[in-house]
Amino acid sequence: MILYFSGTGNSLAIARKIAEVLDEQVMPLTEAVQQDLTSEKRIGLVFPSYDFNLPPAVPAMISGLTISPKSYVFTVVTCGSMAGNCIWVLRRILCEKGIELAYSHKVSVPDNSALAFGRNPNKQLGKFARVPARMEQIIRELQAESHTLHYSWFSLLSWLLGRPAVTRGMIHCMGPKVNPDKCTGCNTCVRVCPMENIRLTDQKAITGDHCTVCLACVHACPQQAFTTNGLQTRKERQYRHPDIKLKDLLRK
Ligand SMILES: Cc1cc2nc3c(=O)[nH]c(=O)nc-3n(C[C@H](O)[C@H](O)[C@H](O)COP(=O)(O)O)c2cc1C
Repeated sequence: MILYFSGTGNSLAIARKIAEVLDEQVMPLTEAVQQDLTSEKRIGLVFPSYDFNLPPAVPAMISGLTISPKSYVFTVVTCGSMAGNCIWVLRRILCEKGIELAYSHKVSVPDNSALAFGRNPNKQLGKFARVPARMEQIIRELQAESHTLHYSWFSLLSWLLGRPAVTRGMIHCMGPKVNPDKCTGCNTCVRVCPMENIRLTDQKAITGDHCTVCLACVHACPQQAFTTNGLQTRKERQYRHPDIKLKDLLRK
């Protein structure tokens, strides 16, 4: 079983690729927490790096999983370039559950947070050129049930960036805010938010208090009604992995 967390499809695309080759199923992490996964021979965890750490909501999801210590557990982190402490942190979370993280690697793909800094993630599509070679290595090593932790080192800077106060600051600055004048109440953000953190009131989107800053709503809104980091969204900066359709990211 390959479990994923994904705002704009990079992690979903990688999860699907691994699942296809290993003949496994994919499931969102948000759904997996309600399942008994103890009979799974293999558990893959695919998620993005945020501020060199796991997305704020993901550690609790992983802690809540029901998995067996006998399963072969591996992770692939997607990131703009740096996974930071993701793998080190994940290893510790799993260790507390008595689970060994057997294998880890990272894949560099377009940085979906670029638009929050006035840059365009779609200008980073060239990063996909290196993905097939990395995926070939990952799949070969997973097929061999390799016990190798690539990119599992600890960095003090990444650790500092993962402190709760810093994370709260990141969520405060980058957390999407709705411009009610632009919102048409189309419901896309409500359905694409993996955290179920957006609802409609009087046909306007309202964000709640458990945003994990995946930016799914910002990238998917057809009216560009969300701001992030105080920046108005520009249509040409909205990003989704080229192999992933909007419907793939919508909650059931
Ligand atoms: C809030 C936020 C913080 C991010 N921080 C990092 C980072 O520290 N290092 C990095 O290489 N990429 C970073 N990124 C980029 C994402 O890790 C990358 O685009 C990822 O593939 C997105 O996955 P998704 O499409 O499955 O949501 C960040 C993205 C967001 C939204």
